[in-house]
Amino acid sequence: MAHIKIENLVKAYENRRKQRRKGDPVSVGEMIKVLDNINLEFADGEMVCILGPSGCGKSTMLKILAGFDTATSGRILVDGREVKEPTSDYIFVFQHSGLLPWMTVWQNVELGLRHMEDAAQKEAQIQEYIDMVELTNSEQHYPHQLSGGMQRRAELARALVVNPDMLIMDEPFTGLDFLTRMKMREEVVNMHEFIGKSILMVTHDIDDALVMADHIVVMGDNPTQVKMDRLLRFDRPRDVSTGELAEIRDEIYFMLGVSYVV
Ligand SMILES: Nc1ncnc2c1ncn2[C@@H]1O[C@H](COP(=O)(O)OP(=O)(O)OP(=O)(O)O)[C@@H](O)[C@H]1O
Ligand SMILES: [Mg+2]
Repeated sequence: MAHIKIENLVKAYENRRKQRRKGDPVSVGEMIKVLDNINLEFADGEMVCILGPSGCGKSTMLKILAGFDTATSGRILVDGREVKEPTSDYIFVFQHSGLLPWMTVWQNVELGLRHMEDAAQKEAQIQEYIDMVELTNSEQHYPHQLSGGMQRRAELARALVVNPDMLIMDEPFTGLDFLTRMKMREEVVNMHEFIGKSILMVTHDIDDALVMADHIVVMGDNPTQVKMDRLLRFDRPRDVSTGELAEIRDEIYFMLGVSYVV
């Protein structure tokens, strides 16, 4: 279970600039607010996509949620319990290029199950997840022998084999070519339907969010606030070029400072 509640979350960092320049909002040594009173709530099992301009604090928010960083004020509750430190029991942070280069695909996936004692069961489970991401026959390859898309799928297998209640993905598709990206989108959506666990994903691609999300959040302004917090109850596969989804798409482009879409 992973019901997530973000309450009055504020995050500020110290201004480390050497000298105050004209137009700076705060003096040197003062705190600069990145996140300003964020309130969000995600139901258990939701696929959440978070959009927002670079530097608005998306990764910061996910780091606080994962327990790797702390809030300046406010809090994040997961199933009613405040997040204070990383808890691998229910969270796995999916990181770009997270594979260990000196280990094979098999060994990388095995990392997530290192505490499992039953060898036969462990082997079966590793194989199941490698098959799921279609890397059968690449088990003994090292990351540098895989294409970018295959590496990303291996990372996904490694994250999913842990069977976390919540999967956090920070820009997981960055650097993938168009077709691989389309395929990964589909795979993550299928996997989400299959395993039913909460997924929180940051993306810069509005269409990723519209195609994938049950719940879409757009962050922005300075300091950052929530500009859109909306449930997307549309069947999949989705066509984002017409109807209500196209309207939401225009609205988001506008919010992010692009006034018309080609
Ligand atoms: N440890 C830190 N110390 C000081 N400032 C930080 C720290 N971490 C992040 N920041 C600042 O907080 C702001 C938000 O950073 P964050 O990485 O959360 O942005 P983001 O929305 O994920 O951006 P991007 O889309 O580029 O990944 C930035 O201005 C950044 O400089
Ligand atoms: Mg980021």
